[in-house]
Parts: sequence; C-alpha cells; structure tokens
Amino acid sequence: MNLETVFGLKGRTALVTGSSRGIGAAIAEGLAAAGAHVILHGTKTGGAAAVHQRIVENGGTAQELSSDLSVPGAGRDLIERAEAIAPVDILVINASAQINATLPDLKPEDFAFQVAVNFGSTVDMLQTSLPLMAARKWGRVVSIGSINQLRPKGIVTAYAATKAAQHNLIQSQARDYAKDNVLLNTLAPGLIDTDRNAHRRDEDPEGWAEYARTLNWMGRAGQSEEMAGAAIFLSSQACSFMTGESIFLTGGY
Ligand SMILES: NC(=O)c1ccc[n+]([C@@H]2O[C@H](COP(=O)([O-])OP(=O)(O)OC[C@H]3O[C@@H](n4cnc5c(N)ncnc54)[C@H](OP(=O)(O)O)[C@@H]3O)[C@@H](O)[C@H]2O)c1
Repeated sequence: MNLETVFGLKGRTALVTGSSRGIGAAIAEGLAAAGAHVILHGTKTGGAAAVHQRIVENGGTAQELSSDLSVPGAGRDLIERAEAIAPVDILVINASAQINATLPDLKPEDFAFQVAVNFGSTVDMLQTSLPLMAARKWGRVVSIGSINQLRPKGIVTAYAATKAAQHNLIQSQARDYAKDNVLLNTLAPGLIDTDRNAHRRDEDPEGWAEYARTLNWMGRAGQSEEMAGAAIFLSSQACSFMTGESIFLTGGY
C-alpha cells in the first residue's frame, strides 16, 4: 500500500468553515500537512491569520475567506467565492453556534440563530457544492457533528437538534451522491477543550475537571488536534467505501 496515495491530499483543495480557531483550525492544519491547499474561514477578515501562518511555516499553503454564516445565502456565497479560488474537493462543515438553554428557557431568537448557522448554512453549502463535486466525479464532505446528535442533553436542546438534522442531511445526500464518488460523513466529537468551553473551565477549574473526569471513559476532555487524523481519513481516498456514517471521537461514552 502506498500511504501517500491512500491518505495523501496533494492536489486537493479543502474549505474548512470556522477554521480560525479550535477544532476547525486543527483540522485545517492536518489537511494542509497531508498536502491539501486549505481555504481557511472565520467571521472576521484576518481572523485566521495565525492558523495561516502555522500552515505556511509547516510547508503548506492556505488562503483566507470570511463571512457570517447566520446570514441567509452566506453558505452559497462562501462556496462560490471558494470555487473562484480553486475547485473545492473537500468541504469541512465545522463552524457552528451553541447557545445553552433547556427548552423552557430557549429564546426564539437563539433558536433561530443556531438553526441558521448550523443547519441553514449547511443546506446552502451542500446545495451549491455537491453538484460541482458530482460533475468532477470526486468529492468529500466532512460534517462536524457532536455526541449530542445521538445522545442529546437538555441544556443544549436546540444545538443538539441542529446537529441531528445536519447528520440526517448528510445521510440523505450521501445516498443521492454515492454513485458520483462524492462521499459525505460526520465526525462527531465529545467534549473538546476549545474556546467554546473556556469560560466554564476558567470560571470553575475544579468543577470542570470533575465534569471531564466523569463524562467519558478516558476521564478527560479531548484536544482539537485529536480530531485531525479522522478528518484526514474522511477527506482522503482511504474512505472510498464509507459514506453517510458517523465517527464518534468521545474518549468512550
Ligand atoms: N468543543 C467541543 O466540546 C465540541 C463538542 C462537540 C462538537 N463540537 C463541534 O465542533 C465544531 C468546532 O467547535 P469548536 O469548539 O472548535 O468551536 P469554537 O472554538 O467556538 O470555534 C468556532 C468557529 O466557528 C466560527 N463561527 C462561529 N460562528 C460563526 C458564524 N456565525 N459564521 C461563521 N463562522 C462562525 C468561529 O469563527 P470566529 O473565530 O470568527 O468567531 C470559529 O472559527 C463545531 O461544529 C462544534 O459544534 C465541539
């Protein structure tokens, strides 16, 4: 087996949404290290500059785009701008909004915002991207889900439901595009130590450590870098017989 042919991404272009930090940044750096040209993305112009610099220092290549994916049509616009740079072979749908609230406390505007960012923009991006990948007879979509898509907690009611909806969409499109060699899968993390959780960790370090200790079998939060290997696999030739599935990276749950 030639590992370069199976796992290597040389000659491929990958768009990673929400790659200015956290899991998206680690995945973008991983895909770049595997040889892909990476299009970084965040809400602010220049917001991914540090990630861009690390990729270049590591011998990779990248470019940056920015947009707010809560705006209707922003997903379509992002794909069109990325395609103007290079055909997008690999789309990593990573950016998401999470506003914690149980159902009785869920505000309509917070519900609408999470649906727009997490689900609405996913529909937009797939509608635009999948026909182009199909015409080229090669494509990989890695949708970043969550353990909450399968085992939802009440405190993340709306967020969890958008993640389940996102995976449902991945499955229907995986079925429709399988014969075009466009493969769509979900990478579903458990608790990962990112900015998203930083306030909890910083406000109550002991409570946070105890939460992580009892949450999963490994007794710790994951690191963003631990998501990169599976993302490379799902973006590569190695996953040529896998579509519509989820990989859970949870530390045992
Ligand atoms: N961390 C966890 O424990 C965990 C667990 C399960 C699943 N996940 C999933 O993993 C993915 C990454 O999570 P993370 O913890 O790395 O997140 P994070 O640290 O909060 O980073 C979020 C990223 O998404 C971008 N983003 C946020 N809102 C956006 C919007 N409206 N439009 C465009 N981009 C937006 C951010 O850009 P800016 O930098 O410009 O704000 C940033 O790049 C998410 O899909 C999340 O649901 C995370």
